Amino acid sequence: MNFPAQAEGKFRDRRGVCPSFFFVFNHVSSWLTPGVEVIIQPNREAAASLVARIVAHDLRANPHLVLGLATGATMERVYRHLVRMHKEEKLDFSLCSTFNLDEYVGLFPSDPNSYRHYMDHHLFHHVNVDPRNTHLPNGLANDLDAECRNYEALIQRFGGIDLQLLGIGKAGHIGFNEPLSALRSRTRVKALTPTTIKQNAPMFGGEDQMPRRAITMGVGTIIEARRCILLATGDSKAEVVAQAVEGPITSMVTATALQLHARCTVVVDEEAGAKLKEKEYYRWIFENEPEWESYR
Ligand code: GLP
Repeated sequence: MNFPAQAEGKFRDRRGVCPSFFFVFNHVSSWLTPGVEVIIQPNREAAASLVARIVAHDLRANPHLVLGLATGATMERVYRHLVRMHKEEKLDFSLCSTFNLDEYVGLFPSDPNSYRHYMDHHLFHHVNVDPRNTHLPNGLANDLDAECRNYEALIQRFGGIDLQLLGIGKAGHIGFNEPLSALRSRTRVKALTPTTIKQNAPMFGGEDQMPRRAITMGVGTIIEARRCILLATGDSKAEVVAQAVEGPITSMVTATALQLHARCTVVVDEEAGAKLKEKEYYRWIFENEPEWESYR
């Protein structure tokens, strides 16, 4: 991890403006925000497009947006939409900064399975984001614990994350916060569970080839983002989505911590939403609340 933007004094330190103002602002805004909302879209393309439109909206409203990014097959569609919007609609990334959720320990950035490579390939190389403002944990750092502390500090120096994109793993995890991750955990090294190793092994050509550990933002780090958007598609996610949204909050399914968030939007396709009990209520909100008018 490097600090070029910091060295050049380009980052926004909102705390430098007036810490008490932002403390009060965050608390007041949490009274006014909707908590968790679920949006069910007809298919995975429509779900990804909706997420991309929310990102584009927030980026246009605040060109200095601090964007939290996620990896995984589900997110590839979102990045395709954002690249298209950059090319066709002049969506401008030049002033925004990005922080990824996680990175494998031991992979070089050039490794096709590293998350740095994923981000370059799916987004960074196709839009006008300043590479110096793109951040991922360094899984090759000599002192991994120091790397984790520095990553947390860097997020703070940029004023915190405005909008955090999230996928969900089959173990119900966000980032690599595997079962039994403390709900207040911070960025740290995490050993991957057999379920996650099995899920991601095909990309590595087998389980033996896969790293066993990753650096991940903690659950506590993630839910401090001002807004979270979780995208899940496909029937393999239906059970875990229902648990995440409607189940009891538990460190065994770390996505359940999002129920504590003041502003979290869960976007699913019909398949991933199939096991939600309150589907009709969620549909009514999306069809009727003025907030969603331009997205319908
Ligand atoms: C990995 C990532 C998660 C991601 C998950 C889902 O575990 N660390 O951040 O949400 O994969 O991936 P996919 O979208 O491929 O199902």
